[in-house]
Formats: sequence, C-alpha cells, structure tokens
Amino acid sequence: MNQGAPSGFEFLHQTRVVLGAGLWSRACAEVRSFGHRVLLVTGASSLSRLGLESVLASEARRLELVFDPFAVPREPDIELADRAAARARSFGAEAVLGIGGGSALDVAKAAAALATNPGSARDYLEGLSNPPLPFTAAPLPVVCVPTTAGTGSEVTKNAVLQVTDLQVKRSMRSERLFPRAAFIDPTLSAKAPKNVRAGSGFDALTHLCEAFCSRNASLVTDALARDGIPRAVRALRALAEGDAGESDATDLAIAATLGGICLANAGLGAAHGLIAPLGGLYPNIPHGAGLACLLPATLLVNEAASARDPAAGRRLLELARLLSGPYATVKNTARELSELRVALELPALSSYACIDLGRVIASPSGSLKTNLVALGTHELSSILELALSA
Ligand SMILES: [Fe+2]
Repeated sequence: MNQGAPSGFEFLHQTRVVLGAGLWSRACAEVRSFGHRVLLVTGASSLSRLGLESVLASEARRLELVFDPFAVPREPDIELADRAAARARSFGAEAVLGIGGGSALDVAKAAAALATNPGSARDYLEGLSNPPLPFTAAPLPVVCVPTTAGTGSEVTKNAVLQVTDLQVKRSMRSERLFPRAAFIDPTLSAKAPKNVRAGSGFDALTHLCEAFCSRNASLVTDALARDGIPRAVRALRALAEGDAGESDATDLAIAATLGGICLANAGLGAAHGLIAPLGGLYPNIPHGAGLACLLPATLLVNEAASARDPAAGRRLLELARLLSGPYATVKNTARELSELRVALELPALSSYACIDLGRVIASPSGSLKTNLVALGTHELSSILELALSA
C-alpha cells in the first residue's frame, strides 16, 4: 500500500478485454484466429441454461471451427485439469475456449498450459511439498467468456485447483496463464440464479476491497478499485432489493473485471487468506458466499490491528467511505455489509459446517501476506469467530 507520493510501481495486464452486452459470440472468431481445432471447456450446464448451443454450432460452421467439448461438473481439481489437458493433446487442440464460471475458466487455463508442458497439475501448484515447476513452454492460446461476474479468472494469471487428498486449494500462477482475450457479456451473467449473482458479486467486491488495502497496492490498482467498489456495492444493493437491471449487471461485470486485474497485480488479504483453507476443508462452502461472511469480520479485525499502523487505519477508513459514503465508519460499514449479505439471502458461515478453527488457521493461503497489516493467529481466529457469530 502506497500512502502519499509513490516512488514507483509495477503493473502487468496481458488479456485483451472486450466488454459489452450481446457480444459473447465474437469469442468464436477470436479463438479461430489461433486455429480451427478448439477444446471447448464449459460448466456442466452453462451452454444449455443460457441457450448458447445453437449460436456456437452456427459459428462453428461459419468459421470452420471444430470443438471438442469438455464439461466441468464440480469445483476444479487436479484430476479435472489433467484430464482436460490430456483431451486437448489427444484432440490436437490448437486453442482453448472457456465458457462458464470461474471453475470452468480455471480448468480452461490450466488445461491449456498443461497440454504443452510435461507432468501433472500437481507439479505446478504453489504451497505443496515441492517448489512448483515453471511453465517453460507457451500454453495453448485461451479465450474466455465468463458467465458469472465475480472471479475475474478471465483476466488473471492464476488457476485455483482443489488438492483433494490434502483437503486444500492451491494456485498455479504464471504470466503464461493470462488468457489471450476475454469477451465479457453482462447479458450472460445477468441470467445466473440470484444466489450465484450475489455470491459472485461479493467475490468481486472482496477482490477490489482487499486489493485496495493490499500492501502491494499501487496507484493503478487504487484507481481501478476506487471505480469498481461503488459499482459493486450499488449493484449488490439493487439485487437485494429485487430491482437489478441491465446497468447493474454491467456494473457487476465491470467490477469483476477490475477486481481480477487488481488481484493479479496487488494481491489480496485475510478474507481470501481464510476462504482458501475453508474451501479446502469444507468444499460445500461456496467461495463468494463464504467471503460475504468473512469480509465484514476482516474489516473489523483489520481496524483493531491498524492501531499498530496509522497509515493502514487511514486506508481502511477510505475503503469504508468508498463502500458506504462520506460519513461512514469501519464499524458501520462492516454492519452494513453483513446486512447486505442477509438481504441477499446468502447463508451464515455457521450453517455450512462445524468448523475446526485450528485447522483453518494452520494453513492460510498466500493472500494473507499482502493483508493491510500483519495479523497473528489470534487475530485470524477472531475473524473466524466474528464471521461464525454473524
Ligand atoms: Fe475470490
């Protein structure tokens, strides 16, 4: 986090972003520019639920594209990524088109990289016993069409996979994992079920908030977060009130895109540091809905910890005012976010499982390293206790 005049910064973004209503099918011509044999990675029901199959079929005929479909029916894991990569190789895929939520897009990115590099997804994941291998060969080109507005996977350089035998989630991370292009069509994410839109929206909002408070934030990520945070909150409030329209869907799509660009550059914070082990140990806790429980608690514990760092306290207050208006306090903002979660009918954290705090705190993800202030284990425990009591 840079307070005052910055001495410099680094910023990287490698994905062509095309965002607008009704333009998703342009992804077909984009992927055709890389070849005609394409691994098509989708969610289990994304295409049929959204009615995209007939357009894909006609685009395939028009552009002489040959799709090999690969469905992602669950949270992505090593086995799915390895299987998708093997399919890409045996099919002779020249490119990968990912259409779906974050799970499908993460598998698309992982498969594209594994198709051209040796070994298993396990060899490339961070935080396991061996240091991750680098992707020495260029992946197959990836084009993404997100059908939810949240993860920002279409613009990031990582893919998150469940390591089922160890009950953890881990990332593969490389500048080679940036998709070549993302076609972001808010008319697709607007058709997701309300609970999916709410959870995804909270994921995007948390990316923006945590990147804004990250110790690696820069003036560029700050500018993006300052734009995205009010958009995300406005759209989530409209969704809670039942009158979300086209402009709210566009705002959430923009917020998700900006959030992805921010997290790829600035990193995240304690809410993501804790949702990773929570999701690994308790796979029934959805990423976004879990973050909706953790974000208010994280704000409160960060505020208490900011007593050690006045600059961090000022940054947190600015975040509260981006979220809740010019007279907000951190405490009021945390309460409003909890009320927003309830109004969106996202479940309480305690409803998912009887959570073993010690096991969660024992393996926070790398996101914790960029949290606003360094937090001790008792403070991580406080976040979980507060989230569980809400
Ligand atoms: Fe996230």
